[in-house]
Amino acid sequence: MPQRQRYLFVCTNRRSDDDAKGSCANKGSEKVRQALKEQLAARGLAKIQARACTSSCLDQCSSGICILVEPDHFFYGRVTLADVPAIVEAIASGQRVERLVLTPEDLARG
Ligand code: FES
Repeated sequence: MPQRQRYLFVCTNRRSDDDAKGSCANKGSEKVRQALKEQLAARGLAKIQARACTSSCLDQCSSGICILVEPDHFFYGRVTLADVPAIVEAIASGQRVERLVLTPEDLARG
């Protein structure tokens, strides 16, 4: 398979329900990753433009659901299922969804 232009690493780490740190999987990240995969494929973007992968904890738990976009090297945070079409559209147009991009302040919180 060809190397894609971008890889979307969706954190699917799961902690127990009573863990104060929370986790992306508990917030629904597995469904977000599945929707990304399906919508990238439906738009014909899955073979060359982008692949949606699962990831272990990206250490941005307080901003989950978290997605690391490489090689652009930025994080999307607080992603919901409703944001998936915008993320896919951004991939199609070579842009990013600025309202979801984690800020330096978000990153400092971890
Ligand atoms: S659990 Fe997803 S970033 Fe830590």
